[in-house]
Amino acid sequence: MKSFYITTAIDYANGKPHLGHAYEKVLTDVVARFRRLMGDEVYFLTGIDEHGQKVQQSAGERGITPIELCDEAAVAFKGLCASLDISNDDFIRTTEDRHKKVVRSILQKLFDQGDIYKAEYKGYYSKRAEQFLQEKDRDGNGEWPEIFGEVEEIAESNYFFRLSRHQEWLVEQLKTNKSFIYPRFRAKQVLEFLKEPINDLCISRPRERLEWGIPLPFDEEYVTYVWFDALVNYISAVGYGTDSFEKHWPADFHVIGKDILVPPHAVYWPIMLKAAGIALPKSLLVHGWWLKSGAKMSKSTGTVVDPLDLIDQFGSDAFRYFVTREMNVGQDSEFSQERYMSRYNSDLANDLGNLLSRVLTMVGRNFGGKIPGPRIEESLELELWTLWKDTQKKVLDLYGEFQFHSGLEKTFAFISAINRYAEQRAPWKLAKSEDPEDRKRFETSLYVMTESLRLAVGLLEPVMPNTTDKVYDLLGYTKEADWDRRLLRGDTLVGQEIGEKTILFPKPQMES
Ligand code: ME8
Ligand code: MG
Repeated sequence: MKSFYITTAIDYANGKPHLGHAYEKVLTDVVARFRRLMGDEVYFLTGIDEHGQKVQQSAGERGITPIELCDEAAVAFKGLCASLDISNDDFIRTTEDRHKKVVRSILQKLFDQGDIYKAEYKGYYSKRAEQFLQEKDRDGNGEWPEIFGEVEEIAESNYFFRLSRHQEWLVEQLKTNKSFIYPRFRAKQVLEFLKEPINDLCISRPRERLEWGIPLPFDEEYVTYVWFDALVNYISAVGYGTDSFEKHWPADFHVIGKDILVPPHAVYWPIMLKAAGIALPKSLLVHGWWLKSGAKMSKSTGTVVDPLDLIDQFGSDAFRYFVTREMNVGQDSEFSQERYMSRYNSDLANDLGNLLSRVLTMVGRNFGGKIPGPRIEESLELELWTLWKDTQKKVLDLYGEFQFHSGLEKTFAFISAINRYAEQRAPWKLAKSEDPEDRKRFETSLYVMTESLRLAVGLLEPVMPNTTDKVYDLLGYTKEADWDRRLLRGDTLVGQEIGEKTILFPKPQMES
């Protein structure tokens, strides 16, 4: 069976991981876990992008070698994955032989076919973007936009990849393959870009200027340019050129941020693959940016939030919940500590955490720790179960369409409904009644609260896997193998012994 193959972008090795990187990994992990729960055999790749000017420069400034810097970065980014409970199957580093070998073989193939040629180049070059610029890259005032940093004029011989040859083909692809880019509105930006004739892509740098790269197989005086190297990770990691390649390729999703859609992933990559005779990935899932005071959070502006601080303080599930709940995939989202605290306190500590504490306390006190069974069904119960059916179906549909923020919103609306049910049934009052009907209502209400809580946390599993397992455990639930079954109402909990009272999401100590 072909795997469901999903990738993240590979992060530049020259900076510390920040919230934007963490978000992309969480988003990809949520998709991966969701598809696994739906029965797919998922293969999940992430990694780091180690070559290029900036790594060479940063290493030089610190008086270490580029590979030493990359080794540190590998530890940091792998550590981030571990702290976030990312379920990746592989982690690629572009300095690995398995990668360099494939980059060189693709370059050689394209060179042999005549898709790569040498030419003299004169023009403007941005060190920050590691990119040659064109007149059209200037802003309305004829200035180079801030993102390019210092721009210099240079003249040198380089190798070029014939991009323009395939421009028409690409436009046709984008017009006919409606599911190639999600969200769909971003495909329009690509088509807009392709309205103008595109230039061939400079894919080399002379070694005297950039030593830290993969040498061209047909001219060792040059190394290849960052994108031609980086994009190839998606195929080198799954054994391009070996039998196992077909098991994974084509990728089902490349998850990327909107800054690297046009032109790298939507133009260079499809054309590179087409020229090399390799199938295109099925889809690009393009997310927006985390902003700080309205601007993209990035290392170069120094506005980064360290995800590890938040994970240390509130745990990885809370972090995963926050970023998934707040970000509408495709849009941007402003990060603030206040919003983080408010989500944590109101959704996690109060709505979910208190419900669990309530259930554990009342079952512990009144039923010797054993979950009672349903004895009657009145309109309050019926309404809640109807809402569950609706919630379950809608949430799975929303997850399937990458609307994770809405899926979580719906799930927490159901959790609020359980709390409302508890208020209305008021089992703490029923406990004191002598009426035998009230006794039935009392037992029923605790069954309903427990069972509906079990169901609700089942829907949280792709996003908060630890919380789901912890609650299952405290409710004495032995996880059934199929997700479908876990999301089905039943009486598996009846008679089960609950665990000790636990605070799922402790309120943090206020910093003085
Ligand atoms: O672009 N919000 O690496 P990178 C959301 N090496 N996502 C963000 C973000 C933010 N504030 N800042 C960055 C590169 N990202 C290349 C990729 S892929 C073959 C090579 C996302 O470290 C960004 O959009 O600059 C990208 O998808 C990923 O983090 C890595 O960014
Ligand atoms: Mg970047």
